[in-house]
Amino acid sequence: MVIVLFGAPGVGKGTQAEILAQKLNIEHLSTGAAFRNAIADQTPVGLLAKEYVDNGKLVPDDVVAKIVEEALAHAAFTPGCILDGFPRTKVQAEALTNMLQRMGRRIDCVVNITVPDVVIVERLLARGRNDDREDVIRHRLDVYNQETSPLLDYYGSAGVLRSVDGLGTVDIVNQRILDVLPD
Ligand code: AP5
Ligand code: MG
Repeated sequence: MVIVLFGAPGVGKGTQAEILAQKLNIEHLSTGAAFRNAIADQTPVGLLAKEYVDNGKLVPDDVVAKIVEEALAHAAFTPGCILDGFPRTKVQAEALTNMLQRMGRRIDCVVNITVPDVVIVERLLARGRNDDREDVIRHRLDVYNQETSPLLDYYGSAGVLRSVDGLGTVDIVNQRILDVLPD
């Protein structure tokens, strides 16, 4: 099963991906976490990604594709995976479709988690990650609205999109996600 957790910054993609990965016993890939690790380890990808991540800008598609392809090649031998924070652009969505096709797989479900912006800003300011400064949060929201949210139409047309209310406790939101996943 290939599941994409979709949504604006701070809606709970990472939190929910971790729980679902455990419950469903499948892999979890967060491109954001992959970049943060690469930055901490000062790898070539990390050095390239740092300025983008710190400022809430999208890392260029070709760099993202490299990280995802490596991770998916590994996940190809597992019962499935959860993608968190990828795809974020039309180019990435098409690249993902092609990668999966080569592996004889396809996306089973795109779960769109929704939370009002005002709550997102509160959550992220309270967390205080490097890119959780108010100006950077606003920029991440703008980037989401301009570059990423158009994918909702793309996956809606493909018939794999499910929307879930991201307000409520982590457990309640998790149950809502489980309820919309295909059998
Ligand atoms: P990424 O790491 O993906 O960050 P993001 O999309 O901005 O989202 P967050 O990780 O901040 O939020 P989340 O939805 O995972 O929520 P979380 O569970 O953490 O990307 C970071 C950067 O990397 C990007 O800006 C970009 O530069 C780069 N990047 C990554 N992927 C890329 C790609 N594909 N293409 C190009 N560039 C890419 O929850 C947030 C907070 O809320 C936490 O404190 C959590 O504890 C809390 N919380 C969660 N659920 C609840 C709840 N139900 N109630 C109350 N609080 C909750
Ligand atoms: Mg995250």
